[in-house]
Amino acid sequence: MMGNNGPTDDVEEKEHFQRIVNAFRYYRSFSLQRLATSEAYVSSLPSHHQTLLTSYRSHLEDIRTCVEHNYEIIKLITADVATLFENVKHDAGQVKSKVHPTMSDMEKVQSTLKQIVRDWSKDGEEERSACYNPIIEEIELNFPPAQRPSEQVQILVPGAGLGRLAFEIAKRGYSCQGNEFSLFMLFASNFVLNKCQGVETFRVYPWTQQFVNTLSAADVTRGSSFPDLDPSSLPRHAQFSMAAGDFLEVYTEASTWDCIATCFFIDCANNIVSFIETIYKILKSGGVWINLGPLLYHYSDIPGENSIEPTYEMVREIIQGIGFVIEKERTGVKTTYSQNVRSMLKYEYDSVFFVCRKP
Ligand SMILES: C[S@@+](CC[C@H](N)C(=O)[O-])C[C@H]1O[C@@H](n2cnc3c(N)ncnc32)[C@H](O)[C@@H]1O
Repeated sequence: MMGNNGPTDDVEEKEHFQRIVNAFRYYRSFSLQRLATSEAYVSSLPSHHQTLLTSYRSHLEDIRTCVEHNYEIIKLITADVATLFENVKHDAGQVKSKVHPTMSDMEKVQSTLKQIVRDWSKDGEEERSACYNPIIEEIELNFPPAQRPSEQVQILVPGAGLGRLAFEIAKRGYSCQGNEFSLFMLFASNFVLNKCQGVETFRVYPWTQQFVNTLSAADVTRGSSFPDLDPSSLPRHAQFSMAAGDFLEVYTEASTWDCIATCFFIDCANNIVSFIETIYKILKSGGVWINLGPLLYHYSDIPGENSIEPTYEMVREIIQGIGFVIEKERTGVKTTYSQNVRSMLKYEYDSVFFVCRKP
């Protein structure tokens, strides 16, 4: 379901695809390079400093081992992405100079590893219950199986990340589609959802790239096993899919969905109004939009990107102006996002949670 509108788009799409594959492949040398720079600096210091830095040196060695382990996971994530999308064939074989990953791509590889912990490890359980449980509870309240067979309830999760929320909804019997446009997320969710069998069969070390605000070496090199449940354990009749592509381009058909569940998503738009308008359009009349998250406005500080940043009060006006009726609302919902719980610096969002109905 990747957009594929013409020859130019096709070339751009292939280059983009290649750039993301390259970013994953570059992870190892990029990370080892960073360690080598620190090691070289230590070696240049007076020898009595070097003696005092003995544990630090061996810590860098341990980080190197973690990077190697992460790279094994990355190799699995990218193993057969060339055939991931039915309508576009990609050549994932070579690293072409034209499509070198950017610094931001490399950060995204690292955040993909953290996202695995958020969505698919026991270590992410607390974070997930704060973010996903209020949404799931609301779905169950609005669509009790006694009223209508769950598989008839069509639920869309735009900006699905690594797919755990959509998976949990499908696990409860609803028909659920996750939508995602980031290839980082799509490659990794494809690996977890389609290639992992069994429980805690892999291990990832996502905090090795955090060089600051660390209390102990063990905090930095600790790993998380995944997946915490077997992704292939969905009941055979479960209706679950992941659709690739831009939410605004993929979902154009009016009155299609009974429920749209957004988690940490609506602030990913250049123009939040277009997200809300699309959500309204594609919901059936009587359908509900359930949202939880902050207003981080992802494009706010990105050079060359358009962005508007209405406050939550203004977002409420937009929601109601478009025609929604706000039925429930809570502010100050304590949530975190891919939080390193052992870091000396932590972020916590006072998220908003709301439920709106299309009359
Ligand atoms: C902050 S993440 C949240 C992921 C997930 N919902 C969670 O709570 O872990 C937002 C996700 O939305 C995706 N996204 C942003 N804009 C999108 C768009 N226009 N269409 C599809 N996905 C989009 C991003 O790639 C990212 O994975």
